[in-house]
Amino acid sequence: SVSTTAPPEVPTTRTDRDRIGSVKQQLSRLLKESLQALFPYEIEPLVAACQAKFGDYQCNNAMGLWSQLKGKPTEFKNPNSIGQAIAKNLPQSEVIESTSVAGPGFVNITLSNKWISKHIHNMLVNGIEEWAPILSVTRAVVDFSSPNIAKEMHVGHLRSTIIGDTLSRMLEFSNVEVLRRNHVGDWGTQFGMLIEHLFDQFPDWEDAGDQAIGDLQAFYKASKLRFDQEPAFMARAQQAVVRLQSGEDKYRHAWKKICEISRKEFDLVYQRLQVQLEEKGESFYNPYIPDVLEEFNKEGLIKESDGARVVEIKGHNIPLIVIKRDGGYNYASTDLAALWYRLNVEKAEWIIYVTDVGQQQHFDMFFTAARTVGWLPDPAKNTYPKTSHVGFGLVLGSDGKRFRTRSSEVVRLVELLDEAKSRSKAELKKRLEDNGKIKDWKDDELDSTAEAIGYGAVKYADLKNNRLTNYTFSFDQMLNDKGNTAVYLLYAHARICSIIKKSGKEIEELKNLEAIVLGHPDERALGLHLIQFAEIVEEACSNLLPNVLCEYLYNLSEMFTRFYTSCQVSQWPATSFLLARSTASVVRNRWAPEKDRSMETAASRSSRGFDE
Ligand code: ARG
Repeated sequence: SVSTTAPPEVPTTRTDRDRIGSVKQQLSRLLKESLQALFPYEIEPLVAACQAKFGDYQCNNAMGLWSQLKGKPTEFKNPNSIGQAIAKNLPQSEVIESTSVAGPGFVNITLSNKWISKHIHNMLVNGIEEWAPILSVTRAVVDFSSPNIAKEMHVGHLRSTIIGDTLSRMLEFSNVEVLRRNHVGDWGTQFGMLIEHLFDQFPDWEDAGDQAIGDLQAFYKASKLRFDQEPAFMARAQQAVVRLQSGEDKYRHAWKKICEISRKEFDLVYQRLQVQLEEKGESFYNPYIPDVLEEFNKEGLIKESDGARVVEIKGHNIPLIVIKRDGGYNYASTDLAALWYRLNVEKAEWIIYVTDVGQQQHFDMFFTAARTVGWLPDPAKNTYPKTSHVGFGLVLGSDGKRFRTRSSEVVRLVELLDEAKSRSKAELKKRLEDNGKIKDWKDDELDSTAEAIGYGAVKYADLKNNRLTNYTFSFDQMLNDKGNTAVYLLYAHARICSIIKKSGKEIEELKNLEAIVLGHPDERALGLHLIQFAEIVEEACSNLLPNVLCEYLYNLSEMFTRFYTSCQVSQWPATSFLLARSTASVVRNRWAPEKDRSMETAASRSSRGFDE
């Protein structure tokens, strides 16, 4: 049996302080009280944002309740009268200005301006953390990036890295403890050939530095070629796997070396993207596999098929192979052990896997296997622990085919990021030359700004579409300052900052002023959109869809522009600058794990590039 480190404690009391959650959650609370007064059983309020002409939100319970009452004695005449009763029984609250009931009982709710303003003010004083939604999960594992040692880290891994990091950040912002896991492919039969090739090619590999192998991808290719063509080499490679797995020193050493070289490559990408990850590769879970499979065996779930050991999976016509014909473990047995570890040792309630949709079946199958052996509840119950596969589509080139370089090689990520940076730097320089500001810029400022814009553009282009769709990679598109791009958002943010700066208004003093006046309809619309931030993050987290947040931010910038266009700055009441400042805070949201401020500096620098 494997000894494990002491499991981390799952906190029993949540540190909710006196957080109020999203607007939706607040309205839900009020509606729940009303429903409780009317019906003797628990009813989950159905709250949704509604068309502006009816109000801000609506409650949609009446129709469903009416159909439940059918044939039973009731004081209600029709769904509309249920709606009326729900509205009438709402408790007194500063949140709601007025209600109206429409058609078959929709309760339209208009929020009070005073309360919207107070809510925004709260955030300005206490920070954006004030608007974190309240989620019902405490600890999650996000398994993302996860490239394979010695093989290329390709655009698929880049997507996984970007999406996984974004999901982690959104969950962390929502006070979920996230274990960011890099499930690197560092175990398996490919190491046999890699090690033997290392011994042959680099006899002094033990003393040579990390540069020993040089290009690891080329190294992989060369060893694969030998494996396929030289029977003697193949035999040695197979022997090497056995010797490695039985723990022979020299082989473990060589394996470690190869992993280290790969890791250095991966880290270059993570550093540039400011992504934090903790590596727990496939090899880590290897010692747990026998006990985990024994659990399945005890339940009679392991069958023999064609020399392999398999678990049959309901709803699938192929079984899940857990021990290969040669007796070795595989991707699936590793994933079962990793899941066991995450549930039992790490005590995660939600385990999220970010890979291309092509792996959907693998995840479906091993999730089902885990359910069969009793690790996970029926998903219909919607309780924890639960697992989710976050699939994503392909990255396409301009030819509509899988994204490749001209020589049809896999695109090297470092080179791709280099190009994003150099293109955005050239663009930035041109701008600065045109407006005569280039002399005020130091070269390292240019560099860090170009990085913020360039890498931001790559990330945002990936995040803004529904992740399941394929998207076409285009530097021209993602670096365009018009349209739904990171550049546009950075520009919008920079412009807001510059408006505030030019006004000479001291935000810190304004905070002590009375409430923000939501005078013009466009100003109120902006205020309302701002306070909906929490429920957008909540939705993006629950459905694991970063594009929901992107769309929100894009709309936010547009709404700001609309307000700015319809209300001249010279006529703004002082408190409108607070609204502008809140908009900037939401766009900027510093929820980076290490409280890193580089985004903030980059923003102030890019504001110098674009404006002033
Ligand atoms: N290494 C895999 C690949 O490159 C991804 C691993 C995803 N995580 C997992 N637990 N299976 O496709």
